[in-house]
Amino acid sequence: MSTPRSPLVDVIAGARPNFMKIAPILHAIQARQAQGSKLRYRLVHTGQHYDARMSGDFFTQLNIPLPDVNLEVGSGTQAEQTAGIMTKYERLLLDARSDACLVVGDVTSTMACAIAAQKLRVPVAHVEAGIRSGDWGMPEEINRLVTDSITNWFFTTSEVANSNLRKSGARDEQIHFVGNTMIDTLLANLERLRPPAFWAEAGLQPGNYFVMTLHRPANVDDPDGFAKLISAVGEAVRGLPVVFPVHPRTAKTLAALPNRPAGLMTVDPQPYLEFNHLVRHAKGVITDSGGVTEETTVLGVPCVTLRDSTERPETVTVGTNELIGTDPAALKPALDKLFAGQWKKGGIPELWDGHTGERIAALLDRLLA
Ligand code: UD1
Repeated sequence: MSTPRSPLVDVIAGARPNFMKIAPILHAIQARQAQGSKLRYRLVHTGQHYDARMSGDFFTQLNIPLPDVNLEVGSGTQAEQTAGIMTKYERLLLDARSDACLVVGDVTSTMACAIAAQKLRVPVAHVEAGIRSGDWGMPEEINRLVTDSITNWFFTTSEVANSNLRKSGARDEQIHFVGNTMIDTLLANLERLRPPAFWAEAGLQPGNYFVMTLHRPANVDDPDGFAKLISAVGEAVRGLPVVFPVHPRTAKTLAALPNRPAGLMTVDPQPYLEFNHLVRHAKGVITDSGGVTEETTVLGVPCVTLRDSTERPETVTVGTNELIGTDPAALKPALDKLFAGQWKKGGIPELWDGHTGERIAALLDRLLA
């Protein structure tokens, strides 16, 4: 087999949490190209998220180049999206093969493209490989397991991930501990964070409000459970406003909610710079997201996670995150601790230093040379 002279890597992005992870990788590849690297990329957007609020705004704010290809898969069940992405990405590879497929995170697009690529023997690189919640009830956990079982090069965010991969049979030379690209994006944009338009009108000030995000099926799909959770939040926050950017999935359950606590401020999904401004200055964050717990860790903001498990244990062992489970009754004691000034201060996990994209681009250059 001849060595490609200008190797082409497909960079795959499909859903909101992918966009902040690919930005620093693309920027680092561009920087290497400017220095004479022959590495090329093809940005493939699967179209899993397609709204401006879930996708377009992130491209603009984070200066992500326009996708070279959009597979336009759109909404559907997990199987429909997986099948649609696989079919369309396989067609792309058959028409114009790449030398590697780089996937990030754990969304449906990640798994679907990894499968299509590996079946055509296009090597797969997985960014954020090896993390595990152990909870097969989360679609993301299935995506992680499947993707990592057919990945050639693992780019990892933590020693725990390295160890998970070794236990599952990955060889040391396949594992590259590079750090966290999501944190590259956060650190690169810290000075650009800006308040949303409603900031002043709502009387928000640093430390006088909470931010909440909820979108996991376990928390938002059952109307009764969701109503209990929302009312427990209302009781635990001692009258402070709760800014709640509502994910499209959550909006459906929210619309049917009989009554809402007075301080609940529901707003549309926020663009990156506005969302992280809200997080940075919040008294605390209440969430069931994984990525948000990494951002709060680096920003040093107390974070209460409404889940029983996490694939990102360093946000708890090192950072400011605490898992309280999904029972709404656990919220009040957790926030009481926060109001009493007893929340842990937290530190920054190893290699979450803002240079992960550069390390990944350098590795791709070497691995595909
Ligand atoms: C997906 C990811 C999840 C991630 C989340 C962040 C998987 C399995 N899950 O979940 O890990 O945390 O994104 O947002 O990949 N919709 C819109 N506009 C869009 C996209 C979707 O209104 O641009 C609607 C869909 O029609 C659907 C709902 O949002 O009703 C859910 O979208 P979907 O892509 O199925 O998964 P998420 O729940 O967003």
